[in-house]
Amino acid sequence: MGQFVSVERGKTRMSINEYIAKQFANPRGIGGRIVMAVMNRQNAQMYEETERLLRPRNDDIILDIGCGNGIMLERIAHACDCHLIGTDISEDALEIAKRRLAGTNVELLRCPVDDTPLEDATVDKALTINTIYFWEDLASGFEEIARVLKPEGIFISTHYTNRALESYSHTQFGYRMRTEQEVVSAAEIAGFTVQIKSIMDGRAYCVVGRRQA
Ligand SMILES: C[S@@+](CC[C@H](N)C(=O)[O-])C[C@H]1O[C@@H](n2cnc3c(N)ncnc32)[C@H](O)[C@@H]1O
Repeated sequence: MGQFVSVERGKTRMSINEYIAKQFANPRGIGGRIVMAVMNRQNAQMYEETERLLRPRNDDIILDIGCGNGIMLERIAHACDCHLIGTDISEDALEIAKRRLAGTNVELLRCPVDDTPLEDATVDKALTINTIYFWEDLASGFEEIARVLKPEGIFISTHYTNRALESYSHTQFGYRMRTEQEVVSAAEIAGFTVQIKSIMDGRAYCVVGRRQA
């Protein structure tokens, strides 16, 4: 039935699933706000595991790529006294993050993963949650993260497996299904030593990369 429901947008009509996919990829307006709130509930375990692996410490400079409404940045801000940087392509998501994070030591930047204004080797730890499907190019994303991380810096990408993604109808629209091997290879070529941690009963995994010195 979902395929027959459509959302009016100017003269174009799109299915509910396509609309949801677009909101995950680039949240906008009230729809983006709702999708992000649902996502925050569904992905609580991803946030927990990522924070555990990241081990944020006082004085760390921590970058959250595709930070959305800033839920992870808020978690980290509660855990320690560090300098936080959030990036995203969505102006609306950053606006919500800005309100959520008012009063914390955070810098929010509107930019894609592969083109940030950050200086070389300035970040201690970087993370990204559920954004890798939307990166245009894996190699340039990992290269940019390697560029801004300090030697021995940590990067964690937490995301669903392709099998889990395929169980959701909306992921047929615009999601790039990269294999685990493709992700690991791109990270290694960019200069990371990589480990994989399976989470959520195998439905998702964390790519834990350490930037080689
Ligand atoms: C599914 S949401 C995840 C948000 C957040 N990481 C979380 O887990 O709550 C994906 C986010 O990635 C952002 N995004 C999509 N493509 C991006 C890109 N190329 N560079 C940076 N952010 C991107 C979207 O705007 C959106 O906020």
